This record gives sequence, structure tokens and C-alpha cells, in this order.
Amino acid sequence: MSTLTAESPVTSRPNARLESLLSDAMSRLDVSSLRKQYIEQDEFVVVDQFLPSEVVRRWNAEVEELIPKAHRNFIPKHKKGGSVGYNTVHEFGPSMRGGYHSPAVQSCLSGIAGSAMKECPASDLHRCALYCYTEEGDHVGWHYDTSYYKDTRWTVLIGLRDESSSRLDCRLYTRQKGREPKDLSLRVETGMMVLFNGDTIYHAVTPVKAGEQRHIISMQYVKTGEMNPFMRFVSNMKDSVAYFGLRQVFLGKKK
Ligand SMILES: [Fe+2]
Repeated sequence: MSTLTAESPVTSRPNARLESLLSDAMSRLDVSSLRKQYIEQDEFVVVDQFLPSEVVRRWNAEVEELIPKAHRNFIPKHKKGGSVGYNTVHEFGPSMRGGYHSPAVQSCLSGIAGSAMKECPASDLHRCALYCYTEEGDHVGWHYDTSYYKDTRWTVLIGLRDESSSRLDCRLYTRQKGREPKDLSLRVETGMMVLFNGDTIYHAVTPVKAGEQRHIISMQYVKTGEMNPFMRFVSNMKDSVAYFGLRQVFLGKKK
């Protein structure tokens, strides 16, 4: 069994072994077929076994490091759960960070979406974050991943350790005139990837039961990354209350 090369926890230098594994995995995907599905499904597509098994093992090991660092939030009728923002993932999750910055992954996602795709600005803690559903009732209510940027923002979810009955519920075609919405209920299996346009897909995460746990990585990419200062303030306030806390959002060191 091959192993991943160790990488300094404080550098963004690509991990060559990790990138090789991801590049091999991306090269085996039929991007044109996935692009057709993405268009047909309202800018939404699911790819099973997106991550190679060695990368899954590395990410799941990093999850164990990150879980104790999660910031918990409870907003009645909207969400309850733990969040680990990019700053912390950057420091303690080198392979996750490598996956987010991977040129092979970005090229593949861009091909499926049919658009140039960039990393979110370093100030955006959602750019690569871990979400933990570890206490009874942890969930996220129905919402869009509304883009506060001037242009498109994509959400990429990758399933990790999941010992729960929780599901990602999605409603497609909600903003297409003359088309009936379609509901999907999805278990995001370990290594599975879900890509969608945040302004298009209405979605929720159903509550975990007592004793259950669900962990998922969310990566965000944008078309331009431009945002006016007022929307930046609104976005930061939302992130501090609903996700990462005031200290991380307003005082966290930018990576
Ligand atoms: Fe969401």
C-alpha cells in the first residue's frame, strides 16, 4: 500500500503524491457525460467514488484532528451543528487543503460546470470547511447557498465518516419557470462528490439521531471572487453567527 508524503502544516505547497493521486482519479472521470448530467439536473451532479481510497483515508484521519476544534452553533429552526473553517483546515488538514487547491480537481470541476472556476478569496472561511453533525438533532434547514459574490458560487460537498441516518435533501428546478420541482434525498457516501450552483439548488440536511455522527467537507469556488464591501460585511456577519464565530471571522489570520 502506498502512502502519502508528509507535508508541512503551514505551507500551501502542493503535495506531489496527493496531486498525483487526485490527477489519476480525475483523468478516469467522463467529464463530458458529467457535464450533460449537470446541465440536465439544474446545475447539480453527483459523482460516486470521486476521491481515491488513499485520499479518503488521509482525509478521515485529519477529520479526527479537526472534530475537537469545531465551533458549534444553534440557530432555532435553521441549523445546529459544528463547523471548522478554512483557517483551521489549512493548519491541521494538509490533505484536505491540498484537495481544495488541487489543479486537477479544479480543472475537472470547471469542465463539469462549463465555466472558469476560481478559489474563493482567502478571507472566505467557507472555501474549504468541515461540517460536523455529532449531537442529536444537528441539521441544516432548507436554504440556497446564496452567493454574496457578484457572480456564481459553486458548492462542492465530499462525504467523509458518516455513521448516521441523515440525508442531504435537494430540490431541483425551483427557479425554472414552467418546470415542476424535483426532490432528491441523498446519502453522501464516503468519497462521493456533489457539485451544484449555490443559487440554483434548494437543499437541507436532515437531523442526526442520538448516537449518530456525520462529517462532510464543503468546498466553495467562484467565477470571479468579486464582492462589494457591504455584501462582504453581510457575509461575514452571517458566517460569524451561523458558522465559525466572531473571533475566527473577524480576527482570524488569513491564510
Ligand atoms: Fe448549503
